[in-house]
Amino acid sequence: MENFYPSQYLNDSKFDINHNYLKKQFEDYEEIFLLIEEVIKNTDYTLGKAVDDIENLMSKEANTEFAVGVGSGTDALFLSLKALGIGYGDEVITTTYTFFATVGAIATAGAKPVFCDVLDNDYNLNPEEIISKINSRTKAIIPVHWAGRPCDMDSINQIASEYNLYVIEDACHALQGEYKGKRCGSLGDIGCFSFHPLKNLNVWGDGGMVTTNNEKIANKLKLIRNHGLVDRNTCIEFGYNSRLDTIQAVVARYVLSHKIEKITESRIQNSHLLDELLKDIPQIRTVKRSTDLKEVFHLYMFIANDRDGLSKFLNENGVDAKVHYPIPMHLQPAAKHLNYNVGDFPIAEELALNSISLPVHEFISEVDLSHVSELIHFYYKIK
Ligand SMILES: Cc1ncc(COP(=O)(O)O)c(C=O)c1O
Repeated sequence: MENFYPSQYLNDSKFDINHNYLKKQFEDYEEIFLLIEEVIKNTDYTLGKAVDDIENLMSKEANTEFAVGVGSGTDALFLSLKALGIGYGDEVITTTYTFFATVGAIATAGAKPVFCDVLDNDYNLNPEEIISKINSRTKAIIPVHWAGRPCDMDSINQIASEYNLYVIEDACHALQGEYKGKRCGSLGDIGCFSFHPLKNLNVWGDGGMVTTNNEKIANKLKLIRNHGLVDRNTCIEFGYNSRLDTIQAVVARYVLSHKIEKITESRIQNSHLLDELLKDIPQIRTVKRSTDLKEVFHLYMFIANDRDGLSKFLNENGVDAKVHYPIPMHLQPAAKHLNYNVGDFPIAEELALNSISLPVHEFISEVDLSHVSELIHFYYKIK
């Protein structure tokens, strides 16, 4: 392949759209170090002021009354299930096209994950499949706003209210995403966010947040994230240790206060530009954009013929193309006991085989994206 490639692009060492952006993200780290120094000088380590601050900011951001900081996005999901009393003997419906954490949280809470396929030309839970999966053990639905594209929440909420089920949004990709003008994280009973370094709001390790309008749920979450303690010596319910770390809360507070608008805006702009640049390639299919949705493009995904070949070619030429993910949840070895088979969820399986994602973070320029587009055009021309 390389021999055919125009020399001005071939293995251009200057062209490097990859995860080095993690280093660039905090070029203003000196300022954050000073804020962290304050935490250390005041020994404000555990559930410190920065945790209160980021909870307040996140409840504004998600437009909910309450936000509770926890150890990670995975813990946000797990603790939400526990706070709702969901566990052994219960079933929770979710999409098979998600990250392991969505399903892991259900399983570690003790409940049974029940999968649905995704919609065609979308990445999200197909509401029409939900009803046939509901039985007397079903307690909740977890829609995942995959890649930062909000799910069809009207349909999901309608089913949930008809069958008396909780809705826990996995909004780990979807901070600032909107469905019909309403923020992700405010669309169900509970919203779960991740602050993992690769997420749009990223910290220097792990962190997560739960958002809700339900005070009882918020109080329960505050209790169980901190051993069920009401004071130093009194535990009213055995719980967990999953407090949002104060140092990570400092970083999250900084990103949310100073950077998130630019991060989100550039992801949206870059993705819209890629939509334009790639639209004439017949071997590629992007999802149809909808004016009902504000997608925040945690990932820029599309379906590509010869996905693996394209991915390798892009990687060889400095573009950090990725596959999220090649095996859907129902076909994972960990799901063997749930007895699903190849072919059970054909749309998710097609995505797993043919989808690819491109970086669209805030350090990518229009020139970079044109270069990526030229690479993709070139790849399909010589095939
Ligand atoms: C859809 C989804 N849900 C949940 C999580 C879990 O988040 P965390 O890594 O903060 O535990 C992730 C993380 O990548 C994710 O992609």
